[in-house]
Amino acid sequence: MKLFVDTAKIEDIRKAEEMGVICGVTTNPSLIAKEGGRSQEDVLKEIASIVDGPISGEVKATTVDAEGMIAEGREIAKLHENMVVKIPMTAEGLKATKVLASEGIKCNVTLIFSANQALLAAKAGAAYVSPFLGRLDDVSQPGIDLIESIVEIFANDPEIDTEIIAASIRNPIHVTDCAMAGADIATVPYPVIEQMTKHPLTDIGIEKFQKDYIAVFGK
Ligand code: G3P
Repeated sequence: MKLFVDTAKIEDIRKAEEMGVICGVTTNPSLIAKEGGRSQEDVLKEIASIVDGPISGEVKATTVDAEGMIAEGREIAKLHENMVVKIPMTAEGLKATKVLASEGIKCNVTLIFSANQALLAAKAGAAYVSPFLGRLDDVSQPGIDLIESIVEIFANDPEIDTEIIAASIRNPIHVTDCAMAGADIATVPYPVIEQMTKHPLTDIGIEKFQKDYIAVFGK
């Protein structure tokens, strides 16, 4: 399973990139809005200068018609060759995905909460689908069940080469579960990446090695 970082915060993207553990970035209108009013265009271009991999930028949250999404998707795609256009999972979004995909523009259909939504997005030509497992957990529906269903449905259909980006990741267990379920990618908030690096026994082990070393060799 590949790891992307799910943020528009440049310093976190740099930290994740320096660890060598990510190969892409996803953003969304809420994440962009957190970056102090900087334009999406400027943020996405800076991200593309840091990470050499798929960078998802979403059409405006207020654009709900296919024509508008298509026009904006073309502009996003022009920002950098690694740009992926994030499109919300609606009927209009499917129409926009079909057109943009036919023009060779990669689309990431997002806000997916059912296997049927993922299937439709794949059939429309999406390069990626983003099922939000954390938000399902938030409403007491096991999000991992959705990931497992999509993995199975896509594996059963040789025509589908759409990649599954497990999104709305809340904790390290989500990452493990998605890897075991066969998701192609998990897009992980940077704080969760940091949590993934930690284990108390590692800390205890380092402390003991240091103590034993210093006892014999000094600082
Ligand atoms: O990429 C989608 C992700 O950012 C949504 O996560 O935490 O807002 O459910 P969250």
